[in-house]
Amino acid sequence: MRETEKRARGAYVEKFGEEPGVVASAPGRINLIGEHTDYNGGFVLPCAIDRRLAVAAGRNGGNLLYSADFDRVRPLHREDDSWAKYPRGVAWALREAGHDADGFQAALAGDVPRASGLSSSAAIEAATALALDALFEFGLDRKSLARICQRAENEYVGVQSGIMDQYASLLCEAGSALLIDCRSLEAETVPLDLEGAGLSLVVCDTRVERGLGDTGYNDRRASCERAAETLGVSQLRDATEGDLERLSSEELRRARHIVTENARVIRAVESLRAKDFEAFGQLMYASHESMRDDYEISTPELDAFVEIARENGAPGARLTGAGFGGCAIALMPAGDTGTLADACRRAFAGRGFGEPEFYEFVPAAGAEVVG
Ligand code: GLA
Repeated sequence: MRETEKRARGAYVEKFGEEPGVVASAPGRINLIGEHTDYNGGFVLPCAIDRRLAVAAGRNGGNLLYSADFDRVRPLHREDDSWAKYPRGVAWALREAGHDADGFQAALAGDVPRASGLSSSAAIEAATALALDALFEFGLDRKSLARICQRAENEYVGVQSGIMDQYASLLCEAGSALLIDCRSLEAETVPLDLEGAGLSLVVCDTRVERGLGDTGYNDRRASCERAAETLGVSQLRDATEGDLERLSSEELRRARHIVTENARVIRAVESLRAKDFEAFGQLMYASHESMRDDYEISTPELDAFVEIARENGAPGARLTGAGFGGCAIALMPAGDTGTLADACRRAFAGRGFGEPEFYEFVPAAGAEVVG
């Protein structure tokens, strides 16, 4: 068992005075390329990170949730705006899908950085869904669980996210990225041998807070829907570069990002399969520029990190996740990650930005039942 899984199990035993029936865990994710394409029916390429959220659950009448990280117990059947809304949302969405997971108690422990764009909420949802599926023997497959988690996020938590985060958390494999066709919901693993290429994946958390509900995320979705309507297609996935001529101003910029980003994801998969990290990195830079200029979801901090990464020899860098703050990523020669972090800290201090945080992740396994 991993450290987080041991903590969740230990917390369960301590709080509830019995062994849990099941322990499951699920990772956060970063998205390598393909941003805001998921809700347009397009392509994304995330990978799971080696930070997880673990859930230990047992089947008795307790109906209690305990977070070891917050040291708080919350009832399953109550509404409040705490961490507990995620496991509650999953139990609700399972019930809505005809799978009644009533009468359980659970302890949670994790180490996915929160509110950073690393999908800590999808990790809670995925781990809870997998744990409840095992505990109540629903026999649901991973893709069904991911859709149940997305429903929890959209309808119970009230955040209009696409399917990427839940799919990544439930379906990724170690050492790989996951190409998701967000329309057909087909997913395929793509080898991501960073170590073999002498590269590290550096994440810069700019610590610029981004509450998804409060940002322009929903505005961006609405713009895309308007652009699709203007073009007479059901989703921007179906728009071509030629179609863009029929759009103007904001609709044009938003749609151009989606159309070109989908094409970049497909090329990025080809470069990864060919182990051509130079080409892959160039696509990352192009993706960042498109998000900065056309989708307008970057911040001065994210732009600064990408530029500093470029100056320090990164083959590629870009913001990752919803934008409006949160994280950016860079591919760096493995020995140079400290240099990048130092240069970035100095530049941020010089420009009066908040102090960023750095992580190095390896592409990790998706959700697992471990006990
Ligand atoms: C958030 C959402 C995802 C996706 C990204 C942007 O992470 O949860 O569904 O839309 O933003 O690519």
